Amino acid sequence: MSSILVTGGAGYIGSHTCVELLEAGYDVIVVDNLCNSSQEALNRVETITGKKVKFYQADIADQEAMEKIFRENHIFGVIHFAGLKAVGESVQKPLEYYQNNISGTLNMCQVMREHGVKNIIFSSSATVYGDPETVPITEQCPKGQCTNPYGWTKSMLEQILTDIQKADSEWNVILLRYFNPIGAHKSGRIGEDPNGIPNNLMPYVMKVAIGELPYVNVFGNDYPTPDGTGVRDYIHVVDLAAGHVKALKKIEECPGIKIYNLGTGKGYSVLEVIDNVSKAVGKEIPYRITERRAGDIAECYSDASLAKAELGWEAQYGMKEMCEDSWNWQKMNPKGYR
Ligand code: NAD
Ligand code: WQD
Repeated sequence: MSSILVTGGAGYIGSHTCVELLEAGYDVIVVDNLCNSSQEALNRVETITGKKVKFYQADIADQEAMEKIFRENHIFGVIHFAGLKAVGESVQKPLEYYQNNISGTLNMCQVMREHGVKNIIFSSSATVYGDPETVPITEQCPKGQCTNPYGWTKSMLEQILTDIQKADSEWNVILLRYFNPIGAHKSGRIGEDPNGIPNNLMPYVMKVAIGELPYVNVFGNDYPTPDGTGVRDYIHVVDLAAGHVKALKKIEECPGIKIYNLGTGKGYSVLEVIDNVSKAVGKEIPYRITERRAGDIAECYSDASLAKAELGWEAQYGMKEMCEDSWNWQKMNPKGYR
């Protein structure tokens, strides 16, 4: 039986996707250099599923290491999560971001082609839409100006993969544009484990909930939104992971190139998220209104109907479960995987 290679599979979304793949009966191989993750996540994936993951600790830019993986395994396709993803850091270190995300992917695609493996599902992001003219955002909306190098790596990699497919119709490429993934597996054994002070809202709120940080900084309350704070389409990471299994089923039909939004279609403001976490935790989460964060937009939420129509995928979990599951993971693992 052929296997699925999951790059970045030890990371937050990757580990949850490994669980869904194993539970759907796929054999899973992970390549990860562990630059932003822990192998412990994969041990826990094995505990949750009772199945084995074949792990290679390697960089996707390492040609020899990638050759070895493709030689030693019969790979049907790649789900490509590996990449650096911190928006602020990407502004400080553009070279590192372009090098890691773009060169790494180019190298990997070359090795894939050499081994006749031409099926790839790529982790893209709603960030490629820039500041959208209208919400909800459909896949027809034009891509926009990204506000940081991280976003540009996603936008550029979408173009690169599109061009590769255009030149050789044996390739099947699915670009999945994620909205804002939060939450954790129900078991509380895997979840998001950021290094240092978190940049994203939910992990930051969790640090406040557990008492490591005093309050949440709400970045601006003068946006043209109902309560003035930013509105986003938060999606449960388990739903997102399930979307990858559906995308894989689609790839098996040789669809050529496809693009899908993965979101719930519903927006929540920063204050609504904080309120929902307060309910899940059973105590008020303190916050202060501060300045807007550079590069932020007012509103971003998906029209998720294409994924429903073509993949048969739709988010199952709402904000309540997202907050409860984030908190369950945080409580059970106050120091993450350490
Ligand atoms: P993550 O950092 O938890 O996972 C990424 C994994 O890739 C990590 O385990 C890291 O060690 C590994 N990695 C990075 N560079 C590598 C390299 N050169 N070789 C091998 N392994 C490498 O991040 P995540 O939140 O799970 O995100 C997964 C993917 O989804 C990323 O591509 C990210 O850009 C994309 N994405 C994430 C979000 C989000 O909000 N979390 C939103 C949209 C898109
Ligand atoms: C959500 C909302 C903030 C932190 C980022 C990337 C995007 C994608 C997902 C990868 C906004 C507000 C946040 C805080 C706050 N990642 N906020 N206080 O910015 O929508 O998207 O992650 O592809 O590319 O840009 O997510 O969680 O950082 O912010 O008030 O301490 O919470 O202003 O309105 P964002 P986020």
